[in-house]
Amino acid sequence: MKIIIDTDPGQDDAAAIMLALGSPEIEVLGITTVAGNVPLALTTRNALIVCELSGRTDVKVFAGADQPLRRALVTAEHAHGKTGLDGPELFEPAVPLQDGHAVDFIIEALMNEASGTVSLCPIGPLTNIALALQKEPAVAGRIKQIVLMGGGYFEQGNITPSAEFNIYVDPEAAAIVFACGAPLVMLPLDVTHKVLTTKLRVERIRAVDNRAARALTQMLLFYERFNEEKYGTDGGPLHDPTTIAWLLRPDLFKGRMCNVEIETKSNLTRGATVVDWWGVTDRGKNALVLRDVNADGFFDLLTERLANLE
Ligand code: BDR
Ligand code: CA
Repeated sequence: MKIIIDTDPGQDDAAAIMLALGSPEIEVLGITTVAGNVPLALTTRNALIVCELSGRTDVKVFAGADQPLRRALVTAEHAHGKTGLDGPELFEPAVPLQDGHAVDFIIEALMNEASGTVSLCPIGPLTNIALALQKEPAVAGRIKQIVLMGGGYFEQGNITPSAEFNIYVDPEAAAIVFACGAPLVMLPLDVTHKVLTTKLRVERIRAVDNRAARALTQMLLFYERFNEEKYGTDGGPLHDPTTIAWLLRPDLFKGRMCNVEIETKSNLTRGATVVDWWGVTDRGKNALVLRDVNADGFFDLLTERLANLE
């Protein structure tokens, strides 16, 4: 499976990248960064750090959009810390950033690889993907699928009562992506709130005891402090790696095809994902919306694949 990970690391983004890099079924064509959890300079640095922690200095990283299409950037240092990747000791990455813009890399990869073979995995605001679709509309028909973490329906929002962070930050970009016609798979809060980094699960990751797993353990211990307080749970939701897990083991998830529209007009519900779960409209079904997950199966997979890294 050829994929491009579009990301704003983020501790849970780091887990997603590590899961992909540790999985022999997946070929990561490149990692593209976007402003989100923290500004672009930091998400880019963090992506390079995660590649290095994973022993994969060969992975190409491209920097992308430093702000949403039409809105001021909203960040989430309250959840991820000042660096975006708080927890382990961070360092200046030795891996060089690629020349060229992330959006051009996405377009070139989709145009050069055989049509229908490249999946996009956006796990941050959808700005880069929307820009690619706008700049080269022909890419839409060549994307195998867009497997994204974002939105929420039964669980609603985490950054406002009605919106999930990735969609809230750039709702106009999300509206473009959800209308683009490529097959969409949506991993919303309804799934990710069920994959909690409980003490037992983090201890199993710690026990892998390679460089990547040790760093990820420190990230998760930092990240879950905030979430445990917010949700009152043992551990916090590990959102982003559910996308990669779905690619590897779709049998761990359950959902259905639905129409999904993005709210862009209202201030109160900006970035809400309006999912027609019950089929009460005749709007076309544009996304596979996942709702349930085998959480133990997910953590078994993550832990097993981390062991393939350095
Ligand atoms: C999403 O927002 C970010 O803070 C996380 O990395 C994840 O992609 C969860 O709402
Ligand atoms: Ca993210």
